[in-house]
Amino acid sequence: MFIYGVPTTNPFGREKEIGVLSNFLKSGQPVGLMGVRRVGKTSLLLASLHRVSLPYIYVSAEEFTSGKSFDFYSFVSSYAVSVTSVLYSFAGYKVLIEKGKSVVKQLRDLIGAVKVTFNIPEVSATLDVTLDKVERKKRLEDEFPKIVDLPQIMAEKFGIPKVVVAIDEFQYLTLAKQSMPNIFHVLRSKWQFHTRVSYVISGSLIGMMDELLNSKDQPFYQFFYLMKVEPLSSKASKEFLKRGFEYYGVRINDEEIDEIINYVDGLPAWLNLVGLKIVNERKSVGDVLNSLVEDVNVVNAVEGDLKKLSPKAKSVVKKLAILGGEGRPKDLGDDRWGVIRALQQLIRYGIVEKKDRGIYKIIDPLLVHYLKGD
Ligand SMILES: Nc1ncnc2c1ncn2[C@@H]1O[C@H](COP(=O)(O)OP(=O)(O)O)[C@@H](O)[C@H]1O
Ligand SMILES: [Mg+2]
Repeated sequence: MFIYGVPTTNPFGREKEIGVLSNFLKSGQPVGLMGVRRVGKTSLLLASLHRVSLPYIYVSAEEFTSGKSFDFYSFVSSYAVSVTSVLYSFAGYKVLIEKGKSVVKQLRDLIGAVKVTFNIPEVSATLDVTLDKVERKKRLEDEFPKIVDLPQIMAEKFGIPKVVVAIDEFQYLTLAKQSMPNIFHVLRSKWQFHTRVSYVISGSLIGMMDELLNSKDQPFYQFFYLMKVEPLSSKASKEFLKRGFEYYGVRINDEEIDEIINYVDGLPAWLNLVGLKIVNERKSVGDVLNSLVEDVNVVNAVEGDLKKLSPKAKSVVKKLAILGGEGRPKDLGDDRWGVIRALQQLIRYGIVEKKDRGIYKIIDPLLVHYLKGD
C-alpha cells in the first residue's frame, strides 16, 4: 500500500534497522537517528517502539517551534503530562486527561488525577510548582531538572524496569536555549544516571545534529550511538514499488519502475507519493514524473523546507540545482564568504552535503528537479 505524509508503523525494507534499534531500546543504549527529512526516521522509530512493547513517551520538539522561537512552557508541560500519564497508566492507575485541551489545563487535570490515585509526594510537588510557574510565566530553571528526572523516579517507584523516551526532531531544542540556556547540560547530566530509561532521539537537520552530537565541546558529545537512516536501496525501492502496484492491480513494467527510482531515488515519502499518483490519477509514469514538481504536496513540502533559509542560502541552493545538483563554491557566486556561509546554513538544515574535493551536493533529487523547474 502507498501512504503519503503520515509515518507508518510498518516501514518496508527496514527489518534489520528495526531489529537493531529494538535491541538498543531494550538494553538502555541511548540512540541518535540521523537522516534527511522524509527518509523514514519517525516510521523506523515508531515501528521499533511497537516491537519492544515497553511503555514509551514520544514527543516531537518540532511541534513547539514557530519560526525561530520555541514554546518552552508548552514543551515542559506536555512532557510532564506524557511521562506521568504513560507511567501511571502502565502501572495500572487510571489517569484521564482530555486531549485537545490546552496543555496547562491537561497538566492541572493530571495533577488532580495523580493525587487521588497514587500520590508520590516528590512527583506531585514538582508538578504543582511547575504548573504554578507555567501559569504565571515564571522561569522554569529550577523545575526543569526535576521534570527531566520524572521518568526515572516514576519507573523506580512503580517497579517498571525500562521505559523509552523518544524525542523526535531533537535539534529544535537548540531554540529552547532562549528560555533555558543550559538545556543540553541539564539533559545530559540527568540522563546519564537514568538506569531505567532508554533515550532515543532523531533529527532531520543533519548539520545541526552533527554539531550537537559530534562536537567535543557539546554536552552530548559521544553520548548516543548514532544510527544513520539511509534512503532505501534501489533493490528495496524496486521491490516496494512493485508490491505496491501489485496490491492495486496496476501494471507497471520494470523500465518504468527504474524511471521512478532514477527520478526520486530511494526516499520513501516520494516513492509513496509517486505510487499514489500513478494509481489514483491513472496517468502514465512519464506524465506523473513530468508534472511531479507542480504537485501541491511536493510544493508544500519543499517550500516548507526552503522557507527557513536566508535569501542568500535560497539563491545558492537554486544555483546548485541549475548546475545539476552539485558544484563548487566558485561556481555559486563571486561573493566567496557569502556563498560559504550560505552553504554552511544549507548543511545545518540538512539540505546540502559536502562531498570530496570541495564539492557540495543537494541531497534530495526532487529538490533539484523542483528548483530547476523540470
Ligand atoms: N520504509 C518505508 N516504507 C514505506 N513507506 C515509508 C517507509 N519509511 C517511511 N515511509 C513513508 O514515508 C513518509 C516519510 O516517513 P517519515 O518516517 O515521516 O520520515 P522522517 O521522519 O525521516 O521525516 C511517510 O509517509 C512514511 O509513511
Ligand atoms: Mg520525522
